[in-house]
Amino acid sequence: MPTTLVLYGSHYGHARTYAQWIAEDLGGRALPLEEAAEADLADAETVVIGASDYAGSLTRAGEISRLAPALKDRKTAYFTVSFSGDVSVPKEKLDAVLAKNFAPAFDAEAPTAHFRGGMDYAALSRKHRTAMMGVKAFLKSKSNRSVTDQQMLDCYGGQADYSDRESIAPFVERVRAL
Ligand SMILES: Cc1cc2nc3c(=O)[nH]c(=O)nc-3n(C[C@H](O)[C@H](O)[C@H](O)COP(=O)(O)O)c2cc1C
Repeated sequence: MPTTLVLYGSHYGHARTYAQWIAEDLGGRALPLEEAAEADLADAETVVIGASDYAGSLTRAGEISRLAPALKDRKTAYFTVSFSGDVSVPKEKLDAVLAKNFAPAFDAEAPTAHFRGGMDYAALSRKHRTAMMGVKAFLKSKSNRSVTDQQMLDCYGGQADYSDRESIAPFVERVRAL
């Protein structure tokens, strides 16, 4: 039976949760990018690849170069997970992030989606916490804040989670139809 493999890069679990939801709906399995070997792709007809977005850098995107030869003959689809998703950032811009980060294995014709995750400051590494101080200062200085800019400011130091299982449905349908 054709199988689906969902590879993901995630620091704090938001992208992992989406990968597990997508794998569940497609009857496949989810695997962290850093643990994936070419052999894992051997019996996968479709490979979905997703990662969380940190200012345009996708978590574990570097692993793609290693897997690119095995991905060449497979159906692929891609997703990002970020605080804003595509609520206030155009899909084209987020597709460009996917194209840049997954360049060795990105298929411009493949289905893409951009989901909302969240933030939990208690879990953040020192590096990420420090980076968020800069983001906060930048957002505070912005005169025309988007809804998600404001949500990011509102959760500063605390936590928020906008992950939404139902938001994956259209993407799952497009992957099914490949
Ligand atoms: C340093 C840093 C930079 C981030 N940059 C962005 C960003 O540019 N746009 C955005 O929407 N979310 C941004 N986020 C939020 C993450 O994308 C969000 O927390 C995501 O759910 C993390 O998923 P993960 O737990 O799977 O790593 C950033 C978070 C941190 C800590």
